[in-house]
Amino acid sequence: MNFKIPRGTQDILPGKVELWQIVESKARDICRRYNYKEIRTPIFEQTELFMRGVGDTTDIVQKEMYTFEDRGGRSITLRPEGTASTVRSFVENKLFGEPSQPTKLYYIGPMFRYERPQSGRMRQFVQFGVEALGSADPTIDAEVIALAMEFYRELGLKNLKLVINSLGDAESRNAHRLALINHFQPRIHEFCSDCQARLEKNPLRILDCKKDRDHELMGNAPAILDYLNEDSKAYFAIVQKVLSDMKIEFVVDPNLVRGLDYYNNTAFEIMVDGEGFGSITTLCGGGRYNGLVQEIGGPETPGIGFALSIERLLMALEVQKVSLPINEHLDCYVIAMGGEAKLVASNISFKIRQAGFSCEQDFLNKKMKAQMKAADRYKAKYVAIIGESEIEKNTIVIKEMETGDQQEIPVDKLINFLGEKLK
Ligand code: HAM
Repeated sequence: MNFKIPRGTQDILPGKVELWQIVESKARDICRRYNYKEIRTPIFEQTELFMRGVGDTTDIVQKEMYTFEDRGGRSITLRPEGTASTVRSFVENKLFGEPSQPTKLYYIGPMFRYERPQSGRMRQFVQFGVEALGSADPTIDAEVIALAMEFYRELGLKNLKLVINSLGDAESRNAHRLALINHFQPRIHEFCSDCQARLEKNPLRILDCKKDRDHELMGNAPAILDYLNEDSKAYFAIVQKVLSDMKIEFVVDPNLVRGLDYYNNTAFEIMVDGEGFGSITTLCGGGRYNGLVQEIGGPETPGIGFALSIERLLMALEVQKVSLPINEHLDCYVIAMGGEAKLVASNISFKIRQAGFSCEQDFLNKKMKAQMKAADRYKAKYVAIIGESEIEKNTIVIKEMETGDQQEIPVDKLINFLGEKLK
């Protein structure tokens, strides 16, 4: 029997995994600078959490969740996103009671959605996301957006397009909801069954229906920006002012609604322009979710965040031919000539590694020439050669691979030598 990897998943092998490590450490570094702390939550949660949190009229909940019953008869779902879990943990661990507020969190981890796989759309993908809970100030909306934009910029991505919109506060949203119902109701029978069900429950979702997107009522549907009350308008204006002051360019798109139910006020997406992306051009999405903490059983607490997938980021970097600085060198390769030398080499390698350098040796009893080749393949900066005569003299021959310079030094000077050369 030949086993195959499940559709929509991938193995990340040595050679590629280094890119992931660089991107992940960049994410951690930018979160350190913006003072967001890491949170790690389980890969699976009670199904109900996502039905409540993400919203039971969304595509994610209706069509894309990996849901199963565990042996105890509970309904469990592999997390399709990180916000609901983060908020669950915030409530359960009473983080709202901690002295430092707002609570600023980030996560990096796998998410699962049963989608039709294509390049940039996976069934298991890794999101880097941040969530700021406990502030309803528009300057933190700008901070969250700036963090995402800076993350991409520092990695070297170009042609980014930041699109923002306001979905308004509860009052504005309600006015917009009624306008949408009035707009679609007379011809709702021309829409798919999902949209018909959405009309009363959540008419905003009709706007991002993939099946009905070309229906003529879609183009002239009431836009939320026309229904914003004064508070919502003022809020959105401050977000835009702070972004402008930071010289972060954006466009306002009144049709941006996002695919999850919990948003209000600020919503945003970061897209990338240019060829080579197919239909996948959205790299990052986020927004404000002021009712979510309460929905999940916590005290009234405002929140805002974003998530982006590392798969799409790496795809964009590849399309734009941005190369990341991978350290592919080995510090030292220890070559042993003869049986006794092999034993000595093991101890020397051990000491080199103990001193903090990367080191490799031969385990396949290769000849000297083949060991040299191996050192080349590992891009070793130095080769340390030990044979019978060196053992007798308690020395080792050390060769710098780039220059070919070679010298014999006492074994106990080797670590100091490498330390000076490689510092
Ligand atoms: P989302 O728009 O569903 O939002 O996903 C955010 C990002 O995750 C997308 O822009 C994309 O980069 C990536 N993504 C989504 N699905 C896939 C997939 N199948 N394959 C590869 N990448 C994918 C959320 O998940 C919200 N939780 C974001 C958020 C955080 N809002 C507030 N806080």
